[in-house]
Amino acid sequence: MEKTFLMVKPDGVQRNLIGEIVSRFEKKGFQLVGAKLMQIPTELAEEHYGEHKERPFFGELVEFITSGPVFAMVWQGENVIATARHMMGATNPKDAAPGTIRGEYGVIVGKNIIHGSDSSESAEREIGLFFNGEGLVEYKRDVNNWI
Ligand code: TYD
Ligand code: MG
Repeated sequence: MEKTFLMVKPDGVQRNLIGEIVSRFEKKGFQLVGAKLMQIPTELAEEHYGEHKERPFFGELVEFITSGPVFAMVWQGENVIATARHMMGATNPKDAAPGTIRGEYGVIVGKNIIHGSDSSESAEREIGLFFNGEGLVEYKRDVNNWI
């Protein structure tokens, strides 16, 4: 079953949005298979956002993502990678549709509440970086028969 890596960023944690965000993915019908509250070390932040290391915002991005605890999660379900990206909304909250997480709760691009993997390659890479094959749970839910 497809898996993705989602993370409530430090602004989302500070604003008490963990429950709201978890709730959206639960109600959608996806399955939480791993989660932890953690402070990201600088080296992990630089690795996670490695694709952006030449961009002008890279320094601020790493500083921000390491500035406080994040809530790192792995979610599972049919097409969860693309669907979670739709539910998050556009990267810049000013362009994110109403009803999406960034559209409802964000204002500026540098504090856009949530991270989500953008492809199966990045999902696999990011799950490996944050969970290293540990802390993921396999379990059956009866509700799967109803979705
Ligand atoms: P990106 O991977 O392009 O967006 P997404 O999170 O939607 O996959 O960028 C990573 C993060 O970098 C983004 O969530 C917020 C930050 N960022 C900026 O601060 N300024 C920018 O101009 C861009 C494009 C991103
Ligand atoms: Mg990205």
